[in-house]
Amino acid sequence: MIVCSCNVLSDHDVRATMHSEGGPARNPGEVHRCLGCSRKCGRCMHTIKNIMNEALCGADHRHTGS
Ligand code: FES
Repeated sequence: MIVCSCNVLSDHDVRATMHSEGGPARNPGEVHRCLGCSRKCGRCMHTIKNIMNEALCGADHRHTGS
């Protein structure tokens, strides 16, 4: 799923930055930097933060209803 339409970043791209060699990205701005781009309109910031939180908390199934 594309989460940043300005830079065409997917949720998979965001999760990959959580396992980068230089250490995990700590905020949405670092996610963009890790992926070689920069924030533009900023509409994706909330979604990226949610993906990061889910990745940091591990497989959190509380919101899936399962
Ligand atoms: S949607 Fe990510 S910067 Fe615009």
